[in-house]
Amino acid sequence: MPLTTTTEMFKKAYDGGYAVGAFNVNNMEIVQGITEAAREQHAPLILQVSKGARAYANHTYLVKLVEAAVIECPDIPIALHLDHGPDFETCKSCIDGGFTSVMIDASSKPFAENIAITRKVVEYAHDHGVVVEAELGSLAGVEDEVNVSAEDSSYTRPEEVEEFVQKTGCDSLAIAIGTSHGAYKFTAAQCTRNEQGILVPPPLRFDILEEVSRRLPGFPIVLHGSSSVPQEFVKMINENGGKMPDAVGIPEEQLRKAATLSVCKINIDSDLRLAMTGSIRKYFAEHPDHFDPRQYLTPARANIKAIVTHKLIDVLGCAGKA
Ligand code: G3H
Ligand code: 13P
Ligand code: ZN
Repeated sequence: MPLTTTTEMFKKAYDGGYAVGAFNVNNMEIVQGITEAAREQHAPLILQVSKGARAYANHTYLVKLVEAAVIECPDIPIALHLDHGPDFETCKSCIDGGFTSVMIDASSKPFAENIAITRKVVEYAHDHGVVVEAELGSLAGVEDEVNVSAEDSSYTRPEEVEEFVQKTGCDSLAIAIGTSHGAYKFTAAQCTRNEQGILVPPPLRFDILEEVSRRLPGFPIVLHGSSSVPQEFVKMINENGGKMPDAVGIPEEQLRKAATLSVCKINIDSDLRLAMTGSIRKYFAEHPDHFDPRQYLTPARANIKAIVTHKLIDVLGCAGKA
């Protein structure tokens, strides 16, 4: 089947109590690792591209890699989504250039400005058969060239969501309930420690999610910053020359719970980066004389596939739902 929008995916996910995984892609091995997992698990899939990914790999290369994946995976729906579109022009360029979904992220702007920019993107996107994700509230952490400190982050205010969705016409809404971008989602001071000395983060604000869902019945909600920072890969990195002390993510049970509620899209990037980096570091440590990229990218791609398989089955609940 050709690239699809997320409309049907989200409707089925909402009704079925699961979420669709949105995984960031930057090169061929990442696209292959993710799509091989989704094909095997018969899972609907969103491949997303950030501004930084377009700058790194070039828009056309990324679109063509995703089109190749669509050919290789004829039995699952795949959407191609712009992650954190910073302005109208970037969204327009992706809409004109083959994407089926865009995010306009004007969440750092005042409410009225966020509405105006989002509305403009929605009008252009809908005229071209493309759907739009918008954001209210802001996550801490590093997004494409935007570094939001914990003090400047803010939870979504449920009392704003109806007016926002009604005035913008957006198709899905990203909200801030305590997730954040990157591999260091919480400071040690915000966490407790378990018996192994591993940081345990504060719980997500399910009260906000529930109030948003009450005000927007049937409307798909998106969670960004939803990597769980698997300690197995942090350990692999640290044991092979890396230095990532106290990296901590969102516990998987909390994401599983969100997926059974109104959350229809869960964004995961950092976990794939950790899997890839850990695999390559380990390979180099074990084979210091090797220099063929195909050799060290093979376990990297295999571990991306393994972690995505785990997410589809155990976290998102979307395996078998294509
Ligand atoms: O939300 C951010 C994503 O992880 C993309 O990161 O902007 O470095 O490509 P990036
Ligand atoms: P993570 O950094 O938690 O993987 O979040 C990715 C994301 O939100 C992409 O938009
Ligand atoms: Zn994000």
